[in-house]
Amino acid sequence: MLVIGIESSCDETAAAVVRDKKEILSSVIASQIDTHKAFGGVVPEVASRIHVENISGVIQQAIDEAGISMEDVDAVAVTAGPGLVGCLHVGVQGAKTLAAVWNKKPLIPVHHLAGHIYANELVTDLQFPLVALVVSGGNSELVYMKDENSFEILGQTQDDAIGEAYDKVARVMGLGYPGGPVIDKLAQQGEAVYDLPEPKTQGRYDFSFSGLKSGVLQFIKRCERKGQTFTQEDLAASFQKAALDEVFARVKLVLEDHPEVKQFVVGGGVSANSGLRARVDELRQEYPDKTFTVPPMRCCTDNAAMIAVAGEIAAEQGRVADARLTADPGGEIC
Ligand code: KG4
Repeated sequence: MLVIGIESSCDETAAAVVRDKKEILSSVIASQIDTHKAFGGVVPEVASRIHVENISGVIQQAIDEAGISMEDVDAVAVTAGPGLVGCLHVGVQGAKTLAAVWNKKPLIPVHHLAGHIYANELVTDLQFPLVALVVSGGNSELVYMKDENSFEILGQTQDDAIGEAYDKVARVMGLGYPGGPVIDKLAQQGEAVYDLPEPKTQGRYDFSFSGLKSGVLQFIKRCERKGQTFTQEDLAASFQKAALDEVFARVKLVLEDHPEVKQFVVGGGVSANSGLRARVDELRQEYPDKTFTVPPMRCCTDNAAMIAVAGEIAAEQGRVADARLTADPGGEIC
């Protein structure tokens, strides 16, 4: 099956052609990062307008680079939610138009988080039941999947998403946007020697990152007040260790509480993080009876290949939409 995926939920306009859930024939991503850098984060109205400018060209480029014609495509998959409403609308309208113009191709709505989880299908056949950790700029969630396309949220952040915390900490450290990759790089050159507050949450599998983010700000202010010096590398390493301790304490609880789980997967922009990948390697040693998978590096941050893969699985289950499909910015995963 040949599926074209379309993604526009935040600040990337993306289209990709994927064959049989495994082979990426093309994956085009028009990133708006340089525009939003000036504001220290994504400006929704600006993002929507740039999606409008980019969407047709990105789709055409994905088709051309795949070396196919739209006639060869079996289905059109699109992120319907969650995300920024104006941004989502652009992708959804683009997909609806494409599906309608080309002999009524099936139109498949995809939940953005399902896309991040199914990015792992590009490297392995998923085994159920599985637990997915979704860590991105907008989400931090632990999801239990009894079977294909069945999602139960076990735990989630009570405040900031982990990627958001990376971005905000980078801003107070004067490192620019997006902060995740820069902090990751600095952390590799530093030692986690500074004490930062440990997050407190009520739910067994829930996360919290805003206290940690404020802790970094207070640490910097305290050093300035007292005339103490610190290194950016050590502060980055200390923040990263504290954030990953928070995540992996919950992951371990889930794995202990659910011995039936066969596979653990990670998805979302923060799954590109080197420290996170090292923690997954440790789990692989600790639980040799389970499979641990991370997505290919180029499919961690927002992309449309993951939407095409999730779309093929949804299509197999008959989850097809019609021309009434609209963007669902707050959409629950189901
Ligand atoms: O999945 P994504 O592209 O967008 C959302 O759906 O939110 O994730 C973007 C987030 C940003 O917060 C960015 O700072 C973070 O992923 N990120 C990283 C790394 N690369 C991207 N965070 C930590 N380490 C990285 N290497």
